[in-house]
Amino acid sequence: MPAKTIFLTTPLYYVNASPHIGHSYTEVAADTLARYHRLAGREVFLLTGTDEHGQKIAQAAADAGKPPQAFVDEVVTRFQALWKTLHISHDDFVRTTEPRHVRAVQQILVRLKDDRKLVEAEYQGWYCTPDETFWTEAELSAAGLLGAAPSCPTCQRPLEPAREEGWYLRLRANQDWLNAFIAKTPDFVRPETRYNELRRLLEQPLPEYLCITRPKSRVSWGIQVPFAPDHVVYVWFDALLNYITVPGYVDDSARFARLWPADVHFIGKDILRHHALYWPIMLHELGLPDRDMPKIFAHGWWRIGEQKMSKSLGNIVDPHAIVGGLLNGQPYAADVYRYFLLREIPFGQDGSFSEEAILKRLNNDLANDLGNLVNRTLSMIGRYCAGRIPAMAPVGCAVEDEPLRAAAVRLPDTLAAALADVQFSAALAGIMEVVSLANQYIEAQAPWQLAKQPEMRPRLETVLRVCAEVVRIVALALTPCMPTVAAAIGQQLGGLDRLTLTPAPSWPGLETGQPIATEHPVLFPRAEGIPA
Ligand code: MSP
Repeated sequence: MPAKTIFLTTPLYYVNASPHIGHSYTEVAADTLARYHRLAGREVFLLTGTDEHGQKIAQAAADAGKPPQAFVDEVVTRFQALWKTLHISHDDFVRTTEPRHVRAVQQILVRLKDDRKLVEAEYQGWYCTPDETFWTEAELSAAGLLGAAPSCPTCQRPLEPAREEGWYLRLRANQDWLNAFIAKTPDFVRPETRYNELRRLLEQPLPEYLCITRPKSRVSWGIQVPFAPDHVVYVWFDALLNYITVPGYVDDSARFARLWPADVHFIGKDILRHHALYWPIMLHELGLPDRDMPKIFAHGWWRIGEQKMSKSLGNIVDPHAIVGGLLNGQPYAADVYRYFLLREIPFGQDGSFSEEAILKRLNNDLANDLGNLVNRTLSMIGRYCAGRIPAMAPVGCAVEDEPLRAAAVRLPDTLAAALADVQFSAALAGIMEVVSLANQYIEAQAPWQLAKQPEMRPRLETVLRVCAEVVRIVALALTPCMPTVAAAIGQQLGGLDRLTLTPAPSWPGLETGQPIATEHPVLFPRAEGIPA
């Protein structure tokens, strides 16, 4: 049997407005993990896309004076363009308005109904349109939010009363199963804080049902429920199903077996409830066994300075304004942005976004440390070795070279350990430690002094070869997060091999005498006027 493909997903983003940094965060994280596994020689499938139905989108289309389909057709292109700018390497991009998804959702609904998994009833409660989420009075009361004008426990915005006839999925009847499943699967949701949050949520009784349809009298922009002419599918029920409709749940069992279950559903902490309560119950009701339940990682939120990012505060950050504006003039602006997002805060925690913080990372980590290492190494090989990779002394590494060599060849293990826990910042910190070590090594070995003493020629060549080998391994290790920077370093070095995880990467791995590029332009021009 072929090995299971690593299946990574992002949320399907709402196309009610343009993408912002929050969307790009989930996307860059998922892409980096996908690139990492591909680099390690594994089969990967990265799925992303857009969530195009529901009341929120219908309202945004009406506000723009456009029919919903025309509206979403326009907004989706902004997401697609941004993913291109940010070098996202998705294998598929699904739009929930596409016939392949619509047909599959309808078939799944019919299957659930035929299997008597759905209940027809009337719902009475509250609805959060921005989150497209139902709340029962019991839940609001438990959260202390059931006043004269109840607000949403997740986003604190006002709720609308909802009283709707429709079709329901049983939540409470599945609660014992879900509790038992979660208790025995501590890595179902990461990080641990979110897992604990989920367990706390499950200490309360779940609402009896989840309404999975909406009357057309209220919302008509949705997938037609095949057996209820006056109803469309509730947008979350429709959107979550993408994770199985695209891998072929209804029409390609071989492909489904290869891809499913998802190895990581990347989500933000705000949509934990939908992914960690509703979604496993949906899958369980469809008859999927426990071993086919997906894994979830819920990351934190970016604040803008100390404020929440929101339309009403007018502080929404457009990634184009960072990549094309703030970082204008950086040859690898998108990679700098990717690096900042993943290095700045441990994945899973909240963080504060500011232009100054980006420029500090640019100056300190990238210009002073990484860029300097690459530039010094290549310039000295140009100057002292006629632009060709020098030979390592036949005895191999001297005592003073060994710590650096050892740290560099350990990098794949460092990455493997950090990324097994989806800890991008730890992985990048590990790479940057090697960069710092290499810069210290250059200072200590002072190749410019060695170059003045003809009898030290073999030592000079060894030192520069050690640096070149370290640069090569660093570039390989940076490939998942900074793909274009890594390629540029590879090109300047005269070619890169693949990152081998086991055994340790070859050392040396470059060809003696291989010509390096004649030009090695600065990778990261410094931003001026930023305190260190
Ligand atoms: N359409 C649903 C997801 C359906 S998945 C089947 C949705 N879309 S969204 O566009 O509102 O949000 C998408 C992602 O962006 C979420 O993971 C959310 O956490 C993330 N972010 C939105 N604002 C954010 C920040 N300020 N910071 C970090 N990520 C945030 O929810």
